[in-house]
Amino acid sequence: MKLLVTGGAGFIGSAVVRLAVARGHEVVNLDALTYAACLDSLATVEGSPLYQFEQADIRDRAALDRIFSAHQPDLVMHLAAESHVDRSIDGPGDFIETNITGTFNMLEAARAYWSRAGRPEGFRFHHISTDEVFGSLPADPEVLFTEATAYDPRSPYSASKAASDHLVRAWGETYGLPVVLTNCSNNYGPYHFPEKLIPVIILNALAGKPLPIYGDGSNIRDWLYVEDHADALLLVAEKGLTGRSYNIGGENERSNLELVQSLCAILDRKRPKAEGSYADQISFVIDRPGHDARYAIDPSRIRDELGWRPSVTVEEGLERTVDWYLNNAAWWQPLLARQGVGQRLGVKA
Ligand SMILES: NC(=O)c1ccc[n+]([C@@H]2O[C@H](COP(=O)([O-])OP(=O)(O)OC[C@H]3O[C@@H](n4cnc5c(N)ncnc54)[C@H](O)[C@@H]3O)[C@@H](O)[C@H]2O)c1
Repeated sequence: MKLLVTGGAGFIGSAVVRLAVARGHEVVNLDALTYAACLDSLATVEGSPLYQFEQADIRDRAALDRIFSAHQPDLVMHLAAESHVDRSIDGPGDFIETNITGTFNMLEAARAYWSRAGRPEGFRFHHISTDEVFGSLPADPEVLFTEATAYDPRSPYSASKAASDHLVRAWGETYGLPVVLTNCSNNYGPYHFPEKLIPVIILNALAGKPLPIYGDGSNIRDWLYVEDHADALLLVAEKGLTGRSYNIGGENERSNLELVQSLCAILDRKRPKAEGSYADQISFVIDRPGHDARYAIDPSRIRDELGWRPSVTVEEGLERTVDWYLNNAAWWQPLLARQGVGQRLGVKA
């Protein structure tokens, strides 16, 4: 099968590309190479005859038409997006243009290609989205996001993703484009850009810097190991029902403070400090404006209908992630020089 993956040089997209190629699929990676992209994350597939790269911007409709015609994909996995909530607070414009207009362009280019090809049965447009479109949950552990939860986005990032989800559903209903959607919880794992929470904590700990925790650290997220997510995405792309959406979660709720304490305990074992614990470096900083209190996914639809469950517990996943950062400084070191990395973002309100 030939997949057109957008955003394949990003964190989740690169995991999808690596796994798809390992499973024998042909992959065309379409990516604009923004600040968040890293082609080094694709070093293991770069030389494969199954892999091709197209540098293109999803805001450029003509480029998309050319790429669809040139590669004739069997299905599309659309991950390209501006993805960092803090950056969306500082500069929402890019989020509107890429996440909304860019998705509109992808839908139109896919629709034109699919119509020209005689509406082939198996074609699928898989839109990858976030649980942040559902807003914020109360603390009650019985209350979870399901596919029927009403949309209630609260940041420029989640609002732009919610808009893109609505466009995808509308193209399915109005034009019959075979679409499928997924909304997933917070991902973590190898190749995570070093401005996101988990890499920031690991790298600041090793550098002897403060470990910043927004507010009081009580915000809860449902952590999903990125390789498990890539596996779920390929399953939905191939077997998910057209017109349906699937929530994907890790069944691993942790408060930010608990998560950081776990990372410190792992580092204390693997790379002990001369004196004291890495937890001594924890520093509470001013909260993110509009910081959602809790996200947690009810994954029963993907489990019951497609038989998917996460394979990695958060304890195992964090161990693997810490090991990966300890052993791969050559990957993350150059990224520390990129614009905004290492600075506090998203405090304008
Ligand atoms: N990271 C998470 O925890 C998470 C959780 C839920 C959903 N998601 C969604 O998954 C997708 C991938 O997330 P990620 O964390 O890998 O993001 P990322 O920021 O690591 O990667 C995004 C990729 O998209 C590319 N891109 C950005 N703008 C583009 C444009 N205009 N044209 C072409 N390419 C462009 C970037 O160059 C980058 O390679 C996003 O749609 C995001 O909303 C992410």
